[in-house]
Amino acid sequence: MDRKEVEKRINKLKGEINHHRYLYHVLDKQEISDGALDSLKHELYRLEREYPDLITPDSPTQRVSGEPLDKFEKFRHTAPMISLFDAFNEQDMRDWEQRNKNILEKSPLKRGVVLSGRERGVLSFEYFIELKADGLAMSLKYEKGMFTAGATRGDGRVGENVTDNLKTIEAIPLSLNEINIDNLRKIGLSQGQAQQAAKALHGEIYIRGEVVMTKQTFKELNKKYQKEGRLLLANPRNGAAGSIRQLNPRITAERRLDFYAYEIIGDLGLEKHSQKREILKLLGFKTIKENKICQNLEETFSFYREIGEKREELPFEIDGMVVKVDNLSLWEDLGVVGKGPRYMMAYKFPATQTTTKVKNVNWQVGRTGTLTPVAELEPVEVTGITVTHATLHNMDEIERLGLKTGDTVIIERAGDVIPKVVKVLPKLRTGKEKRIEVPKTCPICGGEVERLGEEVAYRCTSRDCYAIRLRSLVHWTSKNALDIDGLGKKIVEQLFKEGLVSDIADFYSLAEGDLKPLELFADKKAQNIIDSINARRQIDLSRFIYGLGIRHVGEETAITLAKELISKLQITNIKLQIKEVISYFSKLTLEEIQNMEDIGPIVAESIVNWWHNRKNLAILEKLERNGVSLKVEERLTGTGGFLAGKSFVLTGSLSNLTREEAKDKIRESGGDLSESVSKKTDYVIVGENPGSKHNKAKKLGIKVIDEKEFNKMLHPVK
Ligand code: IVH
Repeated sequence: MDRKEVEKRINKLKGEINHHRYLYHVLDKQEISDGALDSLKHELYRLEREYPDLITPDSPTQRVSGEPLDKFEKFRHTAPMISLFDAFNEQDMRDWEQRNKNILEKSPLKRGVVLSGRERGVLSFEYFIELKADGLAMSLKYEKGMFTAGATRGDGRVGENVTDNLKTIEAIPLSLNEINIDNLRKIGLSQGQAQQAAKALHGEIYIRGEVVMTKQTFKELNKKYQKEGRLLLANPRNGAAGSIRQLNPRITAERRLDFYAYEIIGDLGLEKHSQKREILKLLGFKTIKENKICQNLEETFSFYREIGEKREELPFEIDGMVVKVDNLSLWEDLGVVGKGPRYMMAYKFPATQTTTKVKNVNWQVGRTGTLTPVAELEPVEVTGITVTHATLHNMDEIERLGLKTGDTVIIERAGDVIPKVVKVLPKLRTGKEKRIEVPKTCPICGGEVERLGEEVAYRCTSRDCYAIRLRSLVHWTSKNALDIDGLGKKIVEQLFKEGLVSDIADFYSLAEGDLKPLELFADKKAQNIIDSINARRQIDLSRFIYGLGIRHVGEETAITLAKELISKLQITNIKLQIKEVISYFSKLTLEEIQNMEDIGPIVAESIVNWWHNRKNLAILEKLERNGVSLKVEERLTGTGGFLAGKSFVLTGSLSNLTREEAKDKIRESGGDLSESVSKKTDYVIVGENPGSKHNKAKKLGIKVIDEKEFNKMLHPVK
């Protein structure tokens, strides 16, 4: 994109984000998921970072919170309700810990408390890990043990007073349990701490926590609303927020909300954050039972994985964990910066929805000829892995979505399934988007396309379309061609069936996330296959020519063609671009090819036809765009080698070498191989059970050698 286009995109993104933020924060409506909105914000942030002069003060990237609603009384927070910084992976977490270590190592001890090993310069942290419930943050004011007010976060300083609504939530105690010093001693507080805490708890304190709607309640309410023909709640978070921020407490009561506490604001004189959980329980609050102390980041990571797996089974939705430094004296040392504290981090779970652009729509042909559209995406990370394709099902679905090529879309990946396009964001269009049409002819074989009666699907009428294309893909990955590890026939067929690979160039645009959801791919395998494809991005010239699957072009003919190309173009460099190969072969005449060694008229015609087919050349150009290049094998350029200029034919099986090994040895030593015996053949190597080639050699008077003699030839006595 040039600057003009970036500016336009930035403006469109701002409009779209503001629209959704307003719906979300002010009207408690949600049209797109948090993940999708985050993804738009992230794109805006990236573009603004590239063009900082395009940042305006009203950009959504420049502010962190919502605005309080006018309809409620305002509530000023005595201690601001700040926000949290987000981490998305282990590296983010390690970086955060390292930054904290750096700060603490530099800062003088402000307080007498020392964390383990600090004097020796080996800082280590204990963390209290809390599940990050996805609801609405709330601050509850208690005076002398009585609930007197409750407010939303608002802009962090001023929130909405929603006391009456909060009073309908059973999990919020209207008066706190009586607490005495003995209770506090039992949960591990010293006498002095217990005295201070008890005093503070009897005064003015604030309890912070999250109002949530359980998944069960959300389901039941929506079922009821559907029956009554009422508007449905978009999701549990939205259900919670909407129920709190409306004026009739009766409606709130009907919504059966829940509350989990995580913070006490007051001068309690505690040593550890985790002690607050015990006090909250004593006071009569619900806390999340999974929350626990982890000794270090490694333990935190394994807890994160454990919770990630249990996430679906939890009664309420969570969007991550909050990792909190447990030692409270460090909270003061670390302090707050920008929008959040340094001593906590929101360690988010990957979003299941994100936004990206549809680059193209490919049509995949099934076994029965059905044409299925598949969206080719700008690579994007979703649930932690990169994907490049999403299913579109059929033309009706494209119409339902209103999708055009070039559109910005929301894609979703739920569990181990192939991502799908769930929504188009038409406001982000530039005008360059293109309508998607069903191809008039089959994009794979050029055959006729028809739609049967009322059927949703379109079909290619050619019977062999599927089989022929699949065969060519399997041939490309096979041992004697590209030899791509792990890409056997079964897996190639699955990739083809799913529409991830329609031609050989498609192998090189796959990402791990495209493969993972497919049944044959266990986690590890997907990455292994991507690695082996990547390892074959620079292809030996002769393997490449053979891999194209040109009719009648076997390995030897491929080598002949490669050698011709090398000598005609006088290639000295080991690297070769695909376009150089295209330009050479597409100009060759039938006559020129026929004059090459060992190539007869039928083979020559097939070669010419292949290189004059526009579709074939388009695939090669795509291969080049997808980062494939060629290399000239040394054995083809070398004029040296002690078998140079000698031509061999193999027949029958050898006892010490496989045929492939024997062929390799001949090539390595500069010799030529041929499939058939002719006058130009120098030696015919005869093994066990030789075929007709042996007789032909005798007839033509060509020298016949056995394995022993061949071995001597390979190891000449000096
Ligand atoms: S601590 C100083 N702890 O996450 C920041 N927040 O992304 C205070 N949340 O606004 C937040 N569970 O709504 C904290 N155990 C937990 C939490 C939690 C959920 C929410 C809360 C906050 C948001 C920040």
